[in-house]
Amino acid sequence: MSSVNINVTDESGETRPAEWNEDQTLLDTLLANGFPVLATCGGNASCATCHTYIDPEHIEASGERTEAEADLLLMLDDVATENSRLACQTEYSVEMDGATVTLKAGM
Ligand code: FES
Repeated sequence: MSSVNINVTDESGETRPAEWNEDQTLLDTLLANGFPVLATCGGNASCATCHTYIDPEHIEASGERTEAEADLLLMLDDVATENSRLACQTEYSVEMDGATVTLKAGM
């Protein structure tokens, strides 16, 4: 199985590496590596507790926002930026190797 290595900065500002396997969403990876993401909607793009910033060099590699994700991000105008993704909607890509993901729960 292929995997990539990313760095994750949590809301306290601490950064540590995480391995992202091809059968996982970004949310799966964060949870499997013990990051404190509430994911209260269970990965359905409706709670924003999995909101993240992807570093500018990798935001394109993270793929297109889903429609539900784009709608939710519009409501998060206090935190959402062009580098925002919902981790539950972000699929694996080999081009995400080396990406830095910063956690910033919305709402
Ligand atoms: S887990 Fe709720 S929006 Fe991603």
